[in-house]
Amino acid sequence: MELPPRPQLFDFNGVSMTNIFTDNWDNVQNFKARPDDILIATYPKAGTTWVSYILDLLYFSDMGPDRQTSIPIHERVPFLEFCLPPIPSGADLADKLPTTPRLIKTHLPVQFVPKSFWEQRCKVVYVARNAKDNAVSYFHFDRMNLIQPEPGDWSSYLQGFMEGKRVFGSWYDHVNDWWEKKQSYSNLHYMFYEDLIEDSEQEIDRLCSFLGLSPSPEEKERVRASVTFDSMKQNKMTNYTSVPVMNHKVSPFMRKGKVGDWKNHFTVAQNEQFDEDYKKKMKNPDLKFRCEI
Ligand code: A3P
Repeated sequence: MELPPRPQLFDFNGVSMTNIFTDNWDNVQNFKARPDDILIATYPKAGTTWVSYILDLLYFSDMGPDRQTSIPIHERVPFLEFCLPPIPSGADLADKLPTTPRLIKTHLPVQFVPKSFWEQRCKVVYVARNAKDNAVSYFHFDRMNLIQPEPGDWSSYLQGFMEGKRVFGSWYDHVNDWWEKKQSYSNLHYMFYEDLIEDSEQEIDRLCSFLGLSPSPEEKERVRASVTFDSMKQNKMTNYTSVPVMNHKVSPFMRKGKVGDWKNHFTVAQNEQFDEDYKKKMKNPDLKFRCEI
């Protein structure tokens, strides 16, 4: 497949986006969710693939070895707003998913989520990651992903991140607005990347209780062992090496998987400026992130 030139960011109803995620807008907005669909929502690079794979294993690990060895995670869990012909669009893939429940991924800010998900009272799992590690991970992703805008150097990238000028807009608005949604929509499970790193067993337990699943201790242990960073990095179905738009020589998709890698990127001055700005944007005392564990 011949790749288009890297896309440009533009303002889309107040959110920075690229055409790859807006070209199929009407179909996405009119997507017909079913009551048992499960939406996995994140700001990019917060642990989407990790949680997608956990859910996929919790629901479908008994579907035989073929699924695990031949269907990449991005086909099992379609990316709703993705649209880059001739690749089938995320909405089409989701429509055609043969399994129940359908697991569907989105990076949309909460106000852009198709209304049928709310009307059908679908379960939603939101994953959030601390801003500093999220920015670093996104920077390396934009370097290696040829259908993301050119990232430029780290210093200007970080500035753009703070200004909300990244694909899917402001990290600050994303995590805050989804948090706000949780207050009125009880079928939303809001979880943190850092908690998953610290105690994946406990987080998988919490996910199971939210989803109403009760796997045996053996099944749970199998899932936990399959979703470690090293297993997923080795696994061709979860490490995105089958995707033509990514250059893993520039930076692997499964890059570090750590809390606190930002310390290897932020200068002291950048960190001070970031913290100052962060305080102004993150006023809700209930929404707390950990930049180290
Ligand atoms: P890093 O770039 O910091 O390594 P997403 O799936 O939302 O694109 O997020 C990708 C980030 O999650 C990457 O972060 C990736 O390494 C990390 N990740 C994916 N699977 C993981 C796992 N099993 N354990 C820890 N981190 C994981």
